[in-house]
Amino acid sequence: MLGNKAYNQSGHLEIAGCDVVNLASEMGTPLYIFDEELLRKAMAAYRNGLAQVVPESTVAYAGKAFLCSALCGLIEQEGLWLDAVSGGEYYLALVSGFPTTRIIFHGNNKMREEREMVLAEGVGRWVVDGEEELDTLLEEAPSYRHGKMPVYFRITPGVDPHTHEFITTGKVDSKFGFPLMEGIASRALQKAVDSGLVDVMGIHCHIGSQIDSLEPFEQTVKVMVDFMADFRDRTGFVLTELDMGGGLGVPYLDADLGRFPSIDDYCRGLGAQLRSQCERRSFPLPRMVIEPGRSIVNTAGSTLYRVGTVKNIPGVKRYIAVDGGMTDNPRPVLYGAKYQAVLGVRTTDREAHEYTVVGKCCESGDIIINECSLPSVKSGDLLLVEGTGAYNHSMASNYNMIPRPGVVFSREGKALMVERPESWYDLVRRDVIPEAFSTRAGANCDIEGGKR
Ligand code: LLP
Repeated sequence: MLGNKAYNQSGHLEIAGCDVVNLASEMGTPLYIFDEELLRKAMAAYRNGLAQVVPESTVAYAGKAFLCSALCGLIEQEGLWLDAVSGGEYYLALVSGFPTTRIIFHGNNKMREEREMVLAEGVGRWVVDGEEELDTLLEEAPSYRHGKMPVYFRITPGVDPHTHEFITTGKVDSKFGFPLMEGIASRALQKAVDSGLVDVMGIHCHIGSQIDSLEPFEQTVKVMVDFMADFRDRTGFVLTELDMGGGLGVPYLDADLGRFPSIDDYCRGLGAQLRSQCERRSFPLPRMVIEPGRSIVNTAGSTLYRVGTVKNIPGVKRYIAVDGGMTDNPRPVLYGAKYQAVLGVRTTDREAHEYTVVGKCCESGDIIINECSLPSVKSGDLLLVEGTGAYNHSMASNYNMIPRPGVVFSREGKALMVERPESWYDLVRRDVIPEAFSTRAGANCDIEGGKR
């Protein structure tokens, strides 16, 4: 099993001391469960690991992996920054009281409403993603009310991290960032420096996600330091910060344990490479910034489902249908991602079978696990899918009008609900029914009447 889980004396699975049978009856299923201790440990491992190799360093958690107000509080307590990529993520952090001076604001198409909010409320670093955006920013920056706007420039370093095509972002052909070719990136930086309107702090890159070796990161550090040193040589301007983005991969299956660099290895590897590349180019060691997402939250999170139907097609396949599916975990259908599952209650007397775990969506591709071996599963059993902390909650949808699961943080036998499950009422609360489309008199003001 991934993370810290074990069966207790009654044979019930426990996550951080919380019995999943109790969790299911108190909080309902499906349910995202996070082990708070594991979240904190991963954050601390990054914070301490990086500070040991590069004393001036910042760890900004990438909110796109999973975000809610309680997590903002936890990030703040652990001394991390937040990488926000949209007005929505920024807004969530803002209303949860997270200091905006610790937000790195991203986006390849920052909309007017988003820009206005950030200009009004403040930001730690604004990441300029393209030439048009730079022109707009230089027009709008004078209205920034918190001193000079501190900015990074996102560069596409042209490194292929050999991960899934959809989560590769640093190649030359990318919708993100400034290409290095033909001096495009360097000219943009020069323009910003010359304008005197923003504080050009450094450069940013993100080469991809779920990366299983340090080599592409190290290669990227070299490209980025070369760029910084060349820029200094040409202009005399010294960039003082380097943001390497996120991307460290994690095991999703027991079989993959040990195949990925640890957080410590990653920090040590990146730090050592930064030092040696800076030495080679006689460049002053910049502040190193990283933006890990998946490697902080994935292993800490699991999804608890209740099995509904079990279908046996003799000689062909056994299906287990759970009460969620691609709506709460679209990664198998999007990326062919693999997961593993365990039963909520240990059984020793049932014969094991090969199963395909599917959801309840009207879609044959709604598969969570293609093949897994489990002791004979019955309707009503609890099934825990492991390693679902990243890009599940944040990518969930309401396809087929299926409500999204709630979220709990568990620690030392206590579970705190941090996001309540969606209700059917939540699904219709934004509906507006003009008179002309009303199927019965007064329906437009009666949605709440049928609340469930
Ligand atoms: N910083 C930037 C600018 C990013 O674009 C990303 C992820 C991260 C940091 C965090 O990367 P991580 O440490 O989580 O790998 N939906 C896909 C992953 C998309 C990642 C997008 N960017 C998936 O489910 O695999």
